[in-house]
Amino acid sequence: MDKLGLSSKRFTTFFVVIFISLPIAILVTSICRKPSFAIFEANKELHNVNNTMSQVVKGNIQNGTTIEGRAAETGSRSASSIESSTYDDTENVDDKLFDGLIASGFDEASCISKLESHRYRRKASPSHKPSPFLISKLRNYEKIHRKCGPHSRAYNKSMAKIVNSKNHGDSKCKYIVWTPSNGLGNQMISMVATFLYALLTDRVLLVRFGSDMDDLFCEPFLNSTWLLPKDSPFWYENNGETYQTLLERDKANNNSKEDFDLPSVLFINLQHTSNDPEKFFHCDHSQDLLRKVPLLVLQSDQYFVPSLFITPSFNLKITNMFPEKDTVFHHLARYLFHPSNEAWGLISRFYDAYLAKADEKIGIQVRVFSPSTTPHQAIMDLLLSCTISNKVLPQTVGVHNSSMAYSTTTYTRKNHTLKAVIVASLHPYYADNLRAMYLKNPTINGEVVGVYQPSHEEQQKFKDNMQNMKAWSEMYLLSLSDVLVTTSLSTFGYVAQGLGGLKPWQLFKLVSNGTYFPPCVRDFSMEPCLHVPPKHHCNGTLIQDFLSSFHHVGKCKDYPHGVKLFNANFN
Ligand SMILES: *[C@@H]1O[C@H](CO)[C@@H](O)[C@H](O)[C@H]1NC(C)=O
Ligand SMILES: *[C@@H]1O[C@H](CO)[C@@H](O)[C@H](O)[C@H]1NC(C)=O
Ligand SMILES: *[C@@H]1O[C@H](CO)[C@@H](O)[C@H](O)[C@H]1NC(C)=O
Ligand SMILES: *[C@@H]1O[C@H](CO)[C@@H](O)[C@H](O)[C@H]1NC(C)=O
Ligand SMILES: *[C@@H]1O[C@H](CO)[C@@H](O)[C@H](O)[C@H]1NC(C)=O
Ligand SMILES: *[C@@H]1O[C@H](CO)[C@@H](O)[C@H](O)[C@H]1NC(C)=O
Ligand SMILES: *[C@@H]1O[C@H](CO)[C@@H](O)[C@H](O)[C@H]1NC(C)=O
Ligand SMILES: *[C@@H]1O[C@H](CO)[C@@H](O)[C@H](O)[C@H]1NC(C)=O
Ligand SMILES: *[C@@H]1O[C@H](CO)[C@@H](O)[C@H](O)[C@H]1NC(C)=O
Repeated sequence: MDKLGLSSKRFTTFFVVIFISLPIAILVTSICRKPSFAIFEANKELHNVNNTMSQVVKGNIQNGTTIEGRAAETGSRSASSIESSTYDDTENVDDKLFDGLIASGFDEASCISKLESHRYRRKASPSHKPSPFLISKLRNYEKIHRKCGPHSRAYNKSMAKIVNSKNHGDSKCKYIVWTPSNGLGNQMISMVATFLYALLTDRVLLVRFGSDMDDLFCEPFLNSTWLLPKDSPFWYENNGETYQTLLERDKANNNSKEDFDLPSVLFINLQHTSNDPEKFFHCDHSQDLLRKVPLLVLQSDQYFVPSLFITPSFNLKITNMFPEKDTVFHHLARYLFHPSNEAWGLISRFYDAYLAKADEKIGIQVRVFSPSTTPHQAIMDLLLSCTISNKVLPQTVGVHNSSMAYSTTTYTRKNHTLKAVIVASLHPYYADNLRAMYLKNPTINGEVVGVYQPSHEEQQKFKDNMQNMKAWSEMYLLSLSDVLVTTSLSTFGYVAQGLGGLKPWQLFKLVSNGTYFPPCVRDFSMEPCLHVPPKHHCNGTLIQDFLSSFHHVGKCKDYPHGVKLFNANFN
């Protein structure tokens, strides 16, 4: 659905925004001194965060160094910058390692974010603790991955067997090779689904990352790698038997298990294509066949976790791993996706400079699906209508409350609440408008609102890898918000909400110059939506209604054809 989240096309560097936003802030401040005085002060304060990171940020603004220059500095961050940070440092080891989700004993310098990220997480968030069963499954998985992963003896032996045998044989280690499809948001949600499938079937997950995925994430599995070695014959091979032909052969064989040859390698396409015949991937009979195939190559741009959840033989295991049903993505994404040192540098410096001091952080993701037919103003109206009426953003005097004239009492109203708004969009229009609105007009309660956009459309084009780096950093920054507003159907937003454990306000997907009411709805689950769910029960009858057939699977609010897991309080 969502090609590359919103960050696909063109990007400026993270910090070009500082060149733009700071001079504008100062300029506007000097024009309309009185109302925005507090904002200017707040900005100054933000820039004086006393730690090493902000020194780096300040130095770079003045010197105008390039993004590459900054990225290079990430690696040299010293322990003292951690000590001098403004966050309290009393958490125990469990907090640091995501309540036991992450195994200790990793090489800390190679992945700074694993140690530091807990300081950036929302303090007030409801804690979704991983279950002991999930933790033991993960520790067990890591053992299997170390034993069977690339460069091990078992890997060499198993791969040789798989390559050389015509049928499934009895390989000690079983694999699932994930291959990319669609944009980064789609790739991340499908990786999580594939990893859950690997956990359920004791397969080793290997990923086929192209150069656009270089150095976005740390290695997730202790003392091993998840990267499919470049010399693997499965790097290019997609032309083995397919899952679809296997199903056809199986049908022709009257589902009889005898005299049925299973291949050693099978290609499974679970991509978003609506007119395919039913895949029956959610049925035990299919899974019984697949279980015996030692190497599966899987391509999907979908979050097919709901399919796994309704598979009878997987249902109980998933329920035990995730007693809170809507935390599958939340836990597994936090387990798998740790920003590389380069990405972490972008994230933590932006956070320290703009978000750290805020009392409330509001993330807004605006994806424009049909730029040629939807004027910016229509989307801006939708956004304001959504955020103001649901009290996500404060009202300003004058714009939305014209009855209340400018008055001295308004200006002098004391309120030191600082709200930081982070806007992720390809276009600068939305952040620029919001920023101008809060600079020109005081808010009704007198809170101070700062608006920041990490990156936006610019002339400069980056390699795909840099686009992905920015997209990943933005998803992560959005996930650190206290309140999140996303655009319907955007997998970029799904990643942010899932990582952050947030139920976002979902803006209606506008495709023309119109208005829509309600402009947004509150999601009932932090899980991503599966856009193309199975249509049939395993006996071939149509699934009439997911909610009544399968507990905890309901229609997505942003896409009624799709389904997602939820915990309780579906409405
Ligand atoms: C940061 O704060 C510490 C103590 O609060 C102080 O000793 C140090 O000089 C400050 N550093 C800078 C660069 O302001
Ligand atoms: C700017 O860069 C120069 C040389 O690269 C360095 O000497 C100077 O300290 C830098 N200024 C700041 C504020 O970082
Ligand atoms: C696995 O095979 C590779 C060559 O394909 C070799 O370099 C490596 O040493 C082998 N590893 C083990 C543990 O046998
Ligand atoms: C991981 O590797 C490190 C360094 O080689 C080693 O000290 C540690 O024991 C290993 N951990 C596990 C669980 O194998
Ligand atoms: C499958 O069943 C049909 C009828 O039930 C029969 O005609 C056909 O020969 C069977 N095929 C195989 C491969 O057993
Ligand atoms: C305007 O502000 C006043 C004072 O805060 C408030 O009572 C009133 O409801 C607001 N009007 C609208 C239309 O929001
Ligand atoms: C400041 O604003 C917050 C909302 O952002 C509000 O809850 C609080 O009551 C305000 N305080 C004052 C003194 O107006
Ligand atoms: C969009 O609609 C509004 C009001 O319906 C109108 O004023 C405006 O000109 C339209 N803009 C475009 C680009 O069609
Ligand atoms: C097919 O399976 C569904 C779900 O298990 C069941 O509700 C339905 O009655 C079955 N239909 C037939 C014709 O067996």
